[in-house]
Amino acid sequence: MDYQLEGKTVIITGITDSSSLALVIAKECKQLGAKLICTGLGKTEFHQNLSEAGYSFLERTYSDFTQTVKKELGDDVITYPLDVTIQANIDSFADFLQTSQISVHALLHSIAMDKTIRQGKVKPIMTVSREEFMDAMNVSAFSLLALTQSLYQRNLLAKKGSIVALSYLGAEKIVSHPYKNIGIAKSALERLVKEMAMELGKEIQVQVNAIRFSPYRASKAGSAIEGLEQAENNCEQMAPLGNASAKDLAEEVAYLFRPGNRITGEIRHVDGGYHIRG
Ligand SMILES: NC(=O)c1ccc[n+]([C@@H]2O[C@H](COP(=O)([O-])OP(=O)(O)OC[C@H]3O[C@@H](n4cnc5c(N)ncnc54)[C@H](O)[C@@H]3O)[C@@H](O)[C@H]2O)c1
Repeated sequence: MDYQLEGKTVIITGITDSSSLALVIAKECKQLGAKLICTGLGKTEFHQNLSEAGYSFLERTYSDFTQTVKKELGDDVITYPLDVTIQANIDSFADFLQTSQISVHALLHSIAMDKTIRQGKVKPIMTVSREEFMDAMNVSAFSLLALTQSLYQRNLLAKKGSIVALSYLGAEKIVSHPYKNIGIAKSALERLVKEMAMELGKEIQVQVNAIRFSPYRASKAGSAIEGLEQAENNCEQMAPLGNASAKDLAEEVAYLFRPGNRITGEIRHVDGGYHIRG
């Protein structure tokens, strides 16, 4: 079995800065010979009627992203601004790939957002509004489908390719810290993975899998979650092998990106075995 990704094009979403899990995964893929295309949240022509603060947030975020990619992954990596809440932005990215005659062998979905997580606090589910619920679903779950559909409609997904989405045990269970609204979006993400695995497997032998990773407070998303420090320590103690590292995760993603393997519709755990604990 060939573990290399030589000559394969891998799309990496979700790099914010050097703390992002997606960056560690991108490095692993690059080391295995993949050609990387990284998308990052940023200001685009499709953003309309934003406040000054909104525009400057997007500009700052995109600048951090491009600098991180340049410094950590090199000048040769293609970067593209992508806000997954805007369909026209997703389609323009797919059009760009099509015009550049790029065929996609692998796609990493490493995107999550939940407005009910603010300043280290998570809103009780009984107070979550329709808009907050839909926003988390849109960004953290539907985006996997929207992005894949856009590539699929243009025949950009290479046969025997592979798609991996990052998830968390909180998709299934009430975990030791509040995960609430985003947990429901992660459940939807995981269910989507299975439906997509069925259709894309039958049609173009593309594999679709999700990986539930250990709590990881080093990243921006992780550091925002209430009680994650304690959860990290707790899982470290309780997991048979202790917490998994970002490098462990990256190696598993790269393994699932192997062209033409027959693993699909899986919800895997890279968490040192924490999930087997009662
Ligand atoms: N940190 C953890 O404890 C942990 C554990 C398991 C799984 N995960 C998952 O790993 C993935 C990456 O998270 P991370 O911990 O590396 O944090 P991160 O903050 O580095 O990554 C989250 C990414 O989502 C992107 N994003 C948010 N809204 C977006 C939008 N509208 N359009 C495009 N991109 C958008 C952000 O820009 C950011 O790059 C997420 O799916 C997260 O749920 C994280």
